[in-house]
Amino acid sequence: MSFLRRTAVAAAAFALAASGTVLSQTPASALENGLLRTPPMGFNNWNSTQCKADFTETMIRGIADIFVSKGLKDAGYTYVNIDDCWALPDRDAKGDLVPDPARFPHGIKALADYVHGKGLKFGIYTSAGTHTCNKAGFPGALGHEQQDANLFASWGVDYLKYDNCNNQGVDAQQRYKAMRDALAKSGRPIAYSICEWGQNKPWTWAAPVGNLWRSTGDISDKWSSMIAKAQTNRGLAQYAGPGHWNDPDMLEVGNGGMTAAEYRTHFSLWAMMAAPLLIGSDLRKVSDDSFSILKNTDVIALDQDPLGKQATVLSSNGGLVVYSKVLANGDRAVALSNETTATATISTSASATGIGSASSYTLKDLWTKAIRTTSGSISASVPSHATVLYRLSSGASRYEAESASLSAGGTIDSNHAGFSGTGFANGANAIGSYVEWQVSGPASTLTFGYANGTTTARPVDISVDGTVVAAGVPFPSTGAWTTWSTVSRTVALAAGPHTIRLTATTADGPANLDYLDVSP
Ligand code: GCU
Repeated sequence: MSFLRRTAVAAAAFALAASGTVLSQTPASALENGLLRTPPMGFNNWNSTQCKADFTETMIRGIADIFVSKGLKDAGYTYVNIDDCWALPDRDAKGDLVPDPARFPHGIKALADYVHGKGLKFGIYTSAGTHTCNKAGFPGALGHEQQDANLFASWGVDYLKYDNCNNQGVDAQQRYKAMRDALAKSGRPIAYSICEWGQNKPWTWAAPVGNLWRSTGDISDKWSSMIAKAQTNRGLAQYAGPGHWNDPDMLEVGNGGMTAAEYRTHFSLWAMMAAPLLIGSDLRKVSDDSFSILKNTDVIALDQDPLGKQATVLSSNGGLVVYSKVLANGDRAVALSNETTATATISTSASATGIGSASSYTLKDLWTKAIRTTSGSISASVPSHATVLYRLSSGASRYEAESASLSAGGTIDSNHAGFSGTGFANGANAIGSYVEWQVSGPASTLTFGYANGTTTARPVDISVDGTVVAAGVPFPSTGAWTTWSTVSRTVALAAGPHTIRLTATTADGPANLDYLDVSP
């Protein structure tokens, strides 16, 4: 078993453990070039320049500089990619592609070297056709796959976007596999982006062919275009995973055609969908607002989560859409997205995300950074075209005392109000009287809800799986049997089942016990 194969198997096993569900479909095995285990992050000039005159090596060097100086590299942006119109219309006498000397007077290798010198990676573009898409008729790689792949490798290219124009009607799988094989033979690891616009359902065949595939036609810098891409791409969650991603096209954040709320929705949904985060604006000109969107590390962490699960849609009602994404540590990301023209309340619940039952959850709003707790309901008033994005974490798992085992003479009572669930454990008034729970780790903290209506503490020994881990722990007076409080102890519980027992060390027996909260 190769290293990559083992990694994939381990990741799949982890995915099962974390989601608690069984995969309904075995995904096609991924392209085993080891690249893009998380979605690519970087830049491509197309959305800002197309083939206009400002697409030059000066611009691309400037972007690489800004990646470093403005903290984008530190935030994870790595690839600095160029798009169509970098070449001359004719190959040279050897049949090689020639960089346009007006745009790239030092050539592509010098530019790649410059980008590498910044600790970044460099990407290039061509088409799986006789020519690229531009009317000037720049040469494509159809029939020249190995020669072009070798040239790119010799220049130090790390990423190829392979377009679909002028494909002569040749079968898409044949064309894209030919370049996959040529890249593999080039001797250089090159991430491979299939830009076939979703025309032949690449999600059904491209996992073993490319590292990502476009699921849609080209994006443009307006709400209607952006949200349409999301609507198509969000139905393809089952096909995405480490090394093989759905690609709803590059980012428009910063290009000026959408509101700040719309750009936050764009960035939120791309992160939820584990989409490539390829910046498409000229970073030399964009506002601080756009930088703050692009550098939101909480949102980036959703996109780059190592589990590599694309969000699924939990509900979609008249343009009010709830997405949930399973994260590697068991958390869930939840997006409440309003595609309508009016403010609306959008709601879901912790249980709908499959996170597992707990007595409380933490919700972090990844745009405002506000943190609050909830017993399970997740709801927000969401302005038109905005998205509220949360990271949902499980607080504690509660084990009620009415589900515990009691030593002889103990009873489950309900005569003192204020308890949780349906009752509390009233252990016998005797030394050695105990209350015992079966719980699941991992955990680090045990919290006991209790009442002690006497004036004297009721000490117990706390044991885990038969070993006392805390002796004579006092449960002080709460002043009344209807006044409930908590006692907590830090106890390291490994993953898996455990028996927690409280054993009275005095003739008074234990306090009345309401529940045990087991916290991660
Ligand atoms: C009272 C009280 C019980 C409690 C007991 C005790 O009887 O009503 O709930 O368990 O005292 O001292 O343990």
